[in-house]
Amino acid sequence: MNFKVKDHYYNKAKKENFLARSIYKLEEIDEKYNVISKGDIVMDMGYYPGSWIQYTCGKVGEEGKVVGIDIKEESTKLKHLKNVSIFQKDVFDVKELSELGVDSQFDVLVSDMAPNTTGIRSVDQDRSLNLVEMVFYLAPKFLKVGGNLIIKVFDSNGAQMYLKEQRTRFKEFKYLKPKSTRSVSKEFFVIGIGFKA
Ligand SMILES: C[S@@+](CC[C@H](N)C(=O)[O-])C[C@H]1O[C@@H](n2cnc3c(N)ncnc32)[C@H](O)[C@@H]1O
Repeated sequence: MNFKVKDHYYNKAKKENFLARSIYKLEEIDEKYNVISKGDIVMDMGYYPGSWIQYTCGKVGEEGKVVGIDIKEESTKLKHLKNVSIFQKDVFDVKELSELGVDSQFDVLVSDMAPNTTGIRSVDQDRSLNLVEMVFYLAPKFLKVGGNLIIKVFDSNGAQMYLKEQRTRFKEFKYLKPKSTRSVSKEFFVIGIGFKA
């Protein structure tokens, strides 16, 4: 299947100079739940090619900061953004805030991470769930108390059960399938507001 379907959101992203159509997913989530604020320090896991970084760095402004990690080679298209640092790193290898050039916890964690898919549904679901679990595992060390979270999830029974266990860790815990998500996609986003520690 050709995943680079040139649909409305693909064309809109091109026209508006965004690096990926995923921008519109984050924009919809943020407009609905006010996840990211001016001055925030944000960590973007699986940032490549960088449309979420483009959106986020505009939102946090000059007093804020955005740190992106991805297993892919560092993008050169984000180098001009002053309040952005990017690192070629696997989320499973990140241990300390200092590795990311910050000395305080983040106000917001976002993850649009997606595993390499095999086409075997159960394998892809398990790989996606591993990434989701890793973000929740990192949260106590990386996310401020009161901070917010956005994570992409591939739907599965396992993911639903796991998320039920996590919901009490936030004051509010919402699920959203943004309008720009392709109708065939099984992905949705979890939004956690007000991390309780
Ligand atoms: C859908 S893309 C992200 C698109 C991005 N949000 C944007 O707007 O441009 C998913 C990314 O997750 C990254 N990824 C997958 N597994 C990862 C891991 N273990 N650690 C870090 N990044 C990972 C992939 O390399 C890929 O670039």
